[in-house]
Formats: sequence, structure tokens, C-alpha cells
Amino acid sequence: MQPTEQMISLSPPPGSETTAWRIYHDANREVWVDHFDGHWLVQTREPQFPEFLKDLARGMARSIYWRPRDKAAATAPERVWGEEVSERFLVKENGASFWIDFDAGYSSGIFLDQRLNRKWVGEVVKPGDRVLNIFAYTGGFSVMAARSGAITTTADLSKTYLDWTWDNFSANGLDPDGHFGVKGDAFDWMRTFARQGRTFHGIVLDPPTFSRNKKSTFRTDSNYADLASLAAAIIEPGGWILCCANTHRLGRKQFEKEVRNGIRQQRRNVESLESLPMPPEFTDDEYLKSLRVVVG
Ligand SMILES: C[S@@+](CC[C@H](N)C(=O)[O-])C[C@H]1O[C@@H](n2cnc3c(N)ncnc32)[C@H](O)[C@@H]1O
Repeated sequence: MQPTEQMISLSPPPGSETTAWRIYHDANREVWVDHFDGHWLVQTREPQFPEFLKDLARGMARSIYWRPRDKAAATAPERVWGEEVSERFLVKENGASFWIDFDAGYSSGIFLDQRLNRKWVGEVVKPGDRVLNIFAYTGGFSVMAARSGAITTTADLSKTYLDWTWDNFSANGLDPDGHFGVKGDAFDWMRTFARQGRTFHGIVLDPPTFSRNKKSTFRTDSNYADLASLAAAIIEPGGWILCCANTHRLGRKQFEKEVRNGIRQQRRNVESLESLPMPPEFTDDEYLKSLRVVVG
């Protein structure tokens, strides 16, 4: 059944300085639509495109691109309506700029469900703070920290994403010189920083649900304490760790327990711990859990 207009509720832009947000989500039909500066990226569980979106898009969007969720993760979305997007383009989020690339496969350059956490990082950082963004993807958190005057260290397995990070820095008028980027395994890098006595005033921990290196396998739902422990070893007293878990398999209570356990393993204490919700337009499904932890 096609939804009628009364059933459709589009989320408004979250602010005048933001041009990328989740504009529509139908949990029953499993349709997700992200708005990127007028270009809609539609994801569906079903292999058919939901045609009613074309009527909805008229006058609101410039193009619609679509990717069924069962397609291989690296598949670029196909254009189903409107103008062609042949090049990467910039979107704004709370005044910061980020490059979007529909041809990039896996994801288009920014995880929109992290908007409030990115904003918080921009607000909590003080000029001169050292901030580590581990599992950084395209460096969204690094950009927000650097805009507030932090000296950032960005770590990811992928050189492509590190290069994308520097492009995002340049899009924001930030000089990548004076910031650090490290390619390789996050766990190895955190152990290296601990050995070197290198510490940070803030750390962003937003791991994939599953990651394997030569020596071990990490699963967000069962190994989060190990990750929190590595971070606790390199955080300055009074520093913050933003812990994120993007999985249904780890409940909020268990997640908090894992984080507390990891910090205790380093004989450090939790000074404060705050749980934060997802952006308001992500209403139906709280898969992303975020804890902002100050470590003494
Ligand atoms: C969920 S995304 C992180 C999203 C990012 N925090 C953001 O909000 O933009 C996971 C990222 O971790 C990277 N990654 C996966 N396993 C890794 C590992 N063992 N060490 C370092 N990076 C890893 C992937 O390349 C990917 O960019």
C-alpha cells in the first residue's frame, strides 16, 4: 500500500546551518531517506523503489538516489529521479562543511545519526586540547574539535578516509598541518600511545560493530570493556571519552557496565557519565548508544 499524504511526515531541517539530516523514516515499510543539500539518498529493505517518494520530492528535492540495503555495502546508489550528481558536493552541519560522495559506496561521507555528538565535541573542546578520534572514518569529529581549536589526532585503517578527512579540514578553512593522522589498527595505535606516554584531553570511540586484525577480533557487543580500557590508559585526568555503540545487541545498561569496567581496569574512576539520545528525527529506533564519560 502506498502511504497517503496524511501518513507522511517529513522532518524539517534541524537548523539554518544544517543541510544534511534524516528527512523521512518509515519503520514498517523499512524506508530511510537522508537529505543531502537537496539530494535524497533513499535506502530500502525491499528490492523495489517506493515510487511515492517521487511525488513527495517534487518542489523539495533536486534528485533522488536509491540503494536497497541488501545490496553489497560498497554499491553506489542509482539515480531514480531528478538531476545527476556526478561529483562530490559539500553539505553543512551546524556551520561545518563536509564532503559527500554518492559514488563512495559503503557510506556517503557522514553518519547523520552522530550530529548531536559532533556538536557536543565542538562545544566541550577548549583551544589547545589534544583530541584523539579513533575509528575516525572521514574525520567528522576531528573537524568539529579542530574548529574549536583542538590539536587533533585522527586514526583509521583506511588511507582513503584519512585523505577525505584532510579534504574536510580544507573545506572548513583548517590547515591539516599541525594536526596528526595515523593509518592502521586503532587498538595497536592506542597501545603505542600508552607506551609513548602520549595522552589526550578527549577521545572519541565509535567503533564498527565488528573488526578483525591479524591478532584478534573485536565485537562491540562483547569487547567494549577492552576498548574503554585502552582509552582510559591515555586520557588525561579530568578528560572525556565519548563512547558510542552502534548495535542492537548491546543494551544501554550492559554498555554502561562495559565502559565502567574498562575504565576500572586502568585503576581510573568515572567522575561523571551522561547518556545522550540520538537526533530527534531518528525517532523509531535507538540503535546508537552514546555515553559521555569524564575520567578522573
Ligand atoms: C562506524 S565507522 C566510524 C564512524 C565515525 N566515528 C564517524 O562518526 O564519522 C568505522 C570506521 O572504523 C574504521 N575501522 C574499522 N576497523 C578498524 C580498526 N581495527 N582500526 C582502525 N579503524 C578501523 C573503518 O575504516 C571505518 O572508517
